[in-house]
Parts: sequence; C-alpha cells; structure tokens
Amino acid sequence: MSNIFSTSIGRKLLMSLAGIFLLTFLVVHLGINLLVLRETQDAFNIAAHFMGTNPVIKVFEIVLFGGILIHIIYGMILSIQNGKSRPVRYKKDNHSQTSFFSKYMFHTAIIVGIFIVIHLFDFYFKAKFTDVVDSVTINGKHYHDLGELVIEKFKMPVFVFGYIFAFIFLSFHLHHGFQSAFQTLGINHKSYTPIIKAFGVVYSILIPLGFAIIPIVIYFFR
Ligand code: HEM
Repeated sequence: MSNIFSTSIGRKLLMSLAGIFLLTFLVVHLGINLLVLRETQDAFNIAAHFMGTNPVIKVFEIVLFGGILIHIIYGMILSIQNGKSRPVRYKKDNHSQTSFFSKYMFHTAIIVGIFIVIHLFDFYFKAKFTDVVDSVTINGKHYHDLGELVIEKFKMPVFVFGYIFAFIFLSFHLHHGFQSAFQTLGINHKSYTPIIKAFGVVYSILIPLGFAIIPIVIYFFR
C-alpha cells in the first residue's frame, strides 16, 4: 500500500513533525527539571509525580516515545537515502556554519540517542519498574524521591561530564534541526525564515545550557 509517508518527502514531513513535538517536550522537561534546584525537592517530586501519573500526560508519553522512534527511524532512512543518491562526494568543503551543523546531523543524533537510552536507565526505568527509588512524604502523600536521585547522580563527576558532553551535541543537533523542521513544513518566507533561524539558534543554545546548569549547580553547591 502506498501512502504519503512512504515517499521521501512524506517521511521527512513526519520526521519534522515528530522533531517539533520533541522540541516542545524539551521545554516542558527543562521547566520541571529546574525545580530540582530549589531549596527542597518537593515541587520537583510533585511535578514529576504528576507527569508520571496524570492520564492525559500518560497518553502524551506514548506519543513522546512514538515521536522519538519515528524521528530516529525516518532519520536513519533519510540519511541512508541521501548517501545513496550522492554517490560522488562533494569535493569542495563548504565552510559555512549551516553546512557544518547539517553535515553532522547523523553523528550528533547517535550521541543524543545513546544519551537518551542511558538517561532512561538512570531515572525513568528506575522510577517506573524498580523499587530502588526512595519514597518521600509531602503533605501526607507519598512520592518517589526522584529529586534525591538526581542530586545523588550529579554528585558524581562522571555523570556531570557525561551529561554536559551530551548536551553539547544536543545543542549542535538542535542548531540545524530547528530551522530544518520548519523548512520541511514549507515555511519559507523572506521575512519569517530569518526569524525562525534566529529563534532556532537561541533555542539551541539556551535549552542545552539550561539543562547543563542543573548538574553544575548540584555538583558545586549541593
Ligand atoms: C540535567 C538534565 C536532565 C535531568 C535532571 C533529567 C531528569 C529526568 C527524570 C528525573 C526523568 C524521569 C521522570 C519520571 O519518571 O517521572 C526523566 C525522563 C526523561 N527524560 Fe530527562 N532529564 C534531563 C535531560 C534530558 C534531556 C536533555 C532529554 C532529551 C534529549 C531527556 C529526555 C527524557 C525522556 C525522553 C524521559 C522519559 C519521559 C518522561 O518521563 O518525561 N532528559 N528525565
């Protein structure tokens, strides 16, 4: 059966939509994670509990994991196809910044992908499928003490370095990915495109930087 998503442009479209959904997830995830830096982890634990148990959010979680898989699978198919349709490699190096980030999308994706798998084992699977995460009582209700788990992790230099290393590559991936997703959706306009590009650059710096602040503050000040 042939449909739009079996065509190259259809796959790219679906991949971009999944990418934009993931861009939104990162903003929400960062917003909640920053709560861990407050004096107590109560707000973070309550927010994490809400995100883990609310039925609406649970549906979003399925969409999220589906989105990550679609983005990875279609990204791989597109990279393989691009390789095939370009049998003779371009001889001339293009030194523009855009080409630098776009050239290494596949490589940066692999590092971010490995990070996500390790990251899920660090927190998500532990909280969902094991009882190793301590419990904490807030206003008479029991919660997983994920805040304490985050702090324990980032007291270890290997995790601080590992996470920051991944965030640098996440930044590179987002740098090109952000504007590329909107371009695929056909948003190509003489006045809007430069704004989207500029917003993408700011996003790709601020979001990973926001994530990086968490291990740094915990390691040095907690
Ligand atoms: C310092 C940075 C980060 C911290 C402290 C952190 C913390 C956490 C925690 C505690 C969970 C488990 C939530 C639960 O089970 O209720 C989680 C889940 C998750 N994280 Fe992160 N995270 C960070 C950065 C990232 C980044 C950069 C990405 C993506 C590139 C990411 C992707 C995910 C995903 C996909 C999940 C599973 C879905 C969810 O529970 O929302 N995280 N993270």
